[in-house]
Amino acid sequence: MKKLFLAIISMMTMMSCAQQEQPAQESAGAENQVIETILARRSVRAYKDQAVPKELLDKVLECGVNAANAMNAQQWEIRVVNSQELLNSTTAAAKEAAKGTPSEAQYNDPSFKNIFRNAPAVIFIAHKPGTFTQVDCGLMAGNIMLAAKSLGLGTVCMGGPIASFVNQPAGAEFRQKLNFSEGYEPLICIGIGYPNEEPAAKPRNMDVIKYVE
Ligand SMILES: Cc1cc2nc3c(=O)[nH]c(=O)nc-3n(C[C@H](O)[C@H](O)[C@H](O)COP(=O)(O)O)c2cc1C
Repeated sequence: MKKLFLAIISMMTMMSCAQQEQPAQESAGAENQVIETILARRSVRAYKDQAVPKELLDKVLECGVNAANAMNAQQWEIRVVNSQELLNSTTAAAKEAAKGTPSEAQYNDPSFKNIFRNAPAVIFIAHKPGTFTQVDCGLMAGNIMLAAKSLGLGTVCMGGPIASFVNQPAGAEFRQKLNFSEGYEPLICIGIGYPNEEPAAKPRNMDVIKYVE
C-alpha cells in the first residue's frame, strides 16, 4: 500500500514537472497565446467607466515584480492609485500648474478625464537610481502591460505626467501621498482599465534587425 502511494506521488510530481516545460517548437506559425498577446498589445487612451477588480490588479502586479532585473536587486517600488477622487484632485492640481503653458490645451479636449490618459487606475513605478534600474523598471512595465492585455485589460505606459507634474514642485503633495521610500524616484506610470478603443498597430521598422555572421 505504501509502495503504491509513493508510486502515485512520484508519478504526479513527474506529470506536474512535464506540464511546466514548454514544448520545443520549430515553426513560429503555431498558435501561441504569449506571442499573440505581445503582437496585439497597443497603448489605450480611452477607457470604460468600470473599475478594475483588485484580484486582476494583484495578478498583473505579481507579473510585474517577476520581471527579470539586474542581479535580482529589485530596486523598484510600485504604488497603485484607483481612487477616482485622488486621480481627479491630482488632475485639478496639474491643470492649475499648467495655466498659461502650451500643455493647458489638453484639458479642453472633450474626451479629457484625467492627466493619466483617462485611465481609471494608475500604477506608479519608482526606481532607486542605479546602473540598470531604468531597464529593470521598463521590463517590469512590459510584464504588467502584457499580463493586463492577456486578462482583457488595456494599458498605456506614460512618462509625460511624471516629468511634467509628479516630479515637479507642483506635484509635491501628490508625491508625498505616493509615499515612496527614501531614495526612490518616480520614473513611469501605467494607466490601466477596461479599453474603450482598439487602436491599430503603429508601424514598426523591422530594418533595425540584422543577423551578424
Ligand atoms: C517609457 C515610455 C513613455 C511613454 N510616455 C507616454 C506618455 O507620456 N503619454 C502617452 O500617451 N503615451 C506614452 N507612451 C506610449 C507610447 O507613445 C507608445 O507605446 C508608442 O507610441 C507605441 O504605440 P503602442 O504602444 O500602441 O504600440 C510611452 C511609452 C513608453 C515606453
